[in-house]
Amino acid sequence: MCGIIGYIGSRQATPILIGGLRKLEYRGYDSAGVSVYSEGTSRVVRCRGKLANLEEKLTREPAAGTIGIGHTRWATHGRPSDENSHPHKVGPISVIHNGIIENHLALRQELQASGSHFASETDTEIFAHLVAAQLVQGAENLTAAVRRALQKVRGSYAFVVMSDKEPGTLVAAKNSSPLVVGLGEGENYVASDVTAILAETRKVIFIDEGELVTVTREAVVITDFEGKVKQREPKIITWSAVQAEKGGFKHFMLKEIHEQPRAVADTLVGRVDLENDDVLLDGIELDVKKFKRIIFVACGTSYHASMVGEFMIEALARIPVEVDLASEFRYRDPIVGPGDLVIAVSQSGETLDTMEAIREAKRKGASVLAISNVVESSIPRLADYSFYTHAGPEIGVASTKAFTTQLVAIALLAVHLGRRTGALSKERARVLLSELVQLPQKMTDIVDGAAQLQVLARRYGKAHGFLFLGRSSQYPIALEGALKLKEISYIHAEGYAAGEMKHGPIALIDEHLPVVVLVPKGPHYEKIVSNLAEVRARQGKVLAIATKGDNDIGSHADDVVLVPDTALELQPILTVLPLQLLSYYVADGKGTDVDQPRNLAKSVTVE
Ligand code: F6R
Repeated sequence: MCGIIGYIGSRQATPILIGGLRKLEYRGYDSAGVSVYSEGTSRVVRCRGKLANLEEKLTREPAAGTIGIGHTRWATHGRPSDENSHPHKVGPISVIHNGIIENHLALRQELQASGSHFASETDTEIFAHLVAAQLVQGAENLTAAVRRALQKVRGSYAFVVMSDKEPGTLVAAKNSSPLVVGLGEGENYVASDVTAILAETRKVIFIDEGELVTVTREAVVITDFEGKVKQREPKIITWSAVQAEKGGFKHFMLKEIHEQPRAVADTLVGRVDLENDDVLLDGIELDVKKFKRIIFVACGTSYHASMVGEFMIEALARIPVEVDLASEFRYRDPIVGPGDLVIAVSQSGETLDTMEAIREAKRKGASVLAISNVVESSIPRLADYSFYTHAGPEIGVASTKAFTTQLVAIALLAVHLGRRTGALSKERARVLLSELVQLPQKMTDIVDGAAQLQVLARRYGKAHGFLFLGRSSQYPIALEGALKLKEISYIHAEGYAAGEMKHGPIALIDEHLPVVVLVPKGPHYEKIVSNLAEVRARQGKVLAIATKGDNDIGSHADDVVLVPDTALELQPILTVLPLQLLSYYVADGKGTDVDQPRNLAKSVTVE
């Protein structure tokens, strides 16, 4: 997830681009850059780090001109560095990009074979080469060249392209990444979000999937990828700047809950190999035979993802798995060595305890794989291998989209390992991969039903405590549901393995205690239903999270939330969504500071 902006008009572009990028920094902040056209050529100024670094560089290397594009990056392909920062310039063509080009490896090889030289590790530079090549091969103008280049790329993207040969035009295209055009008087804008241009104009056109837009000072022409012109009426935005930054949602957390289908789709891009029923791990070559055991180390929500990972990997790859809290592992002189693969899971990639757990594991000879959301953060840099989630920056302190993308990354890893240990048949892998690909749609179905959770939050939100119950891979989801609720609503909540209830927590149950029970379809269904009966026999209030089509559950619970069916191993990726929404609405009802709950920090870099 990156931020993009373009300007074409008669004012100086750089201050407008920088103003827009400042509003977009929440979408990515590992590097930034601009390309501004003046007198026959465009000047690219870009650098690693926050926008302030770029502003400082621009004072030394000013970019004057009235047409330009700007970008703030959240790395996916290629580490954060000056060379990997956008815009990428090839010949007369400058390109900025948000999203992922799925077939980037094949395109890069093809372009290299025909003599192209690459200056960066990014997938974006490929598009600049493709557009430049189309112009050389006779495309009549920039719009035609972009249209032809688009035929070659697969993936999710919003591109903005500028050419030194046609300086009065910006061309932008969209597939699955947001793109909006802003309309002014004798000037126009393009951006990934309205927030970037709200200070300049409130008159906008949202670009739809599969559309290309040619923007000049005086006109905006929208076509589909075949060139058929589309008519679209502009909209007037009434959101405040703060609302716009949150995409119209009240809090970043709610926005991020709703972003999960996209985040999961981006995490799957380029990794699911449906032709061979396999998973590609971004070129990571694990010596699977060497590893007799896998040990997950992580903290908080990432620890819960790791616990689900234990079920996934043991079920699909039949490699023994242990899961440890990083803060415990690092101090208990763990028995770990060269036959172990330690998987460190960390959204931020900066959590100190997880980092120290890795150091301890490496000291003792283990190999380390990092799963992180931040390219080139400290934890991936310490690890032997890094596999990234593509959730984009998570602003809300309570982790949501980072968690579900971690689960997806671990599921991909489990399928990859299972195919190599021989534990996972081609047929079962095919089913799992097809279910993985369907997750974004199923997640959309759940978040579209958020209103039900809002009602339930009102019904249960006055309680002084909650109990969450689940079995097997739903047990970590019960823990995660309880953690989410307590961290943002400050209501005490406990997650428990349902089978453990009778060993203690059953004493808590009375008519005042809501009990959230995860009871999706599966081998433990009946056992969970008996736990649920035990709760109700003691007047406990039961909110069941069950599978669509379960017609019996209603007679065992006070309220039911249904989620779509999926493969057993992937169910946690869906059942956690209603719990995130429930926590959110309970907290919002109480009026807590949802995005920045008291005493909590997004990145825990201290002990
Ligand atoms: C809870 C939450 C924390 C983090 C934990 C680890 O919503 O976000 O529990 O999961 O601090 O952080 P990372 O994953 O960055 O290592």
